[in-house]
Amino acid sequence: MGTAVLVSGTGTNLEAILEAEVPVSVAAADRPCRGLVVAARDGVEAVLVDRAEYGGFSAAFDREGYTDALVDALESRGVDLVCMAGFGTILAGSFFAKFDGRVLNTHPSLLPAFRGWHAVRDALAAGATVTGCTVHVATAELDEGPILTQEVVEVRPDDDEASLHERIKAVERRLYPFTILLVRAAIARGAEPVTLARPPTEPGR
Ligand code: GRF
Repeated sequence: MGTAVLVSGTGTNLEAILEAEVPVSVAAADRPCRGLVVAARDGVEAVLVDRAEYGGFSAAFDREGYTDALVDALESRGVDLVCMAGFGTILAGSFFAKFDGRVLNTHPSLLPAFRGWHAVRDALAAGATVTGCTVHVATAELDEGPILTQEVVEVRPDDDEASLHERIKAVERRLYPFTILLVRAAIARGAEPVTLARPPTEPGR
């Protein structure tokens, strides 16, 4: 089974995944970032599929072209499970069709609360007293998709975005590798991928 981790930033979740001895075959990034350094340091193939070559962060960003290039990079390496770990590019729907039910994501809130890029800031602004993190199957809709695991993190009165996010990330670094190992074990035993498109069969049918 080929497992890829997609990164854009500091890559501390990737570090935790590698420390948990999840067999990662490739780490791919959409921009130069520390995550690539972490992978290379651990002897994992590090691939940069740079969105700068597809219009970068301009309105002309070629999302389909970028997605196709990333799919090619992963497929040519035999990847069949993709773990997004702080990946900062929204991919075209074709990505999720290709790896249907086999794309995981970690998000720093208790979904469905606080979707989007500013989940920690939004939880603070809403006056939430608890938030947390969610590992879910990623679909073409941002931060949607079946929830696999969640863990609560208390919001402290003196928290700012950075302090709260760091405590959430400490939990993610435990929960995400654990969940990936569960999913890999399920796949190895022939379990059907969990998707939105395939509701469970009703009893008796
Ligand atoms: C995590 O909080 C993840 O939920 C969010 O980005 C952060 C990634 O952190 N999408 P790192 O790059 O793994 O340190």
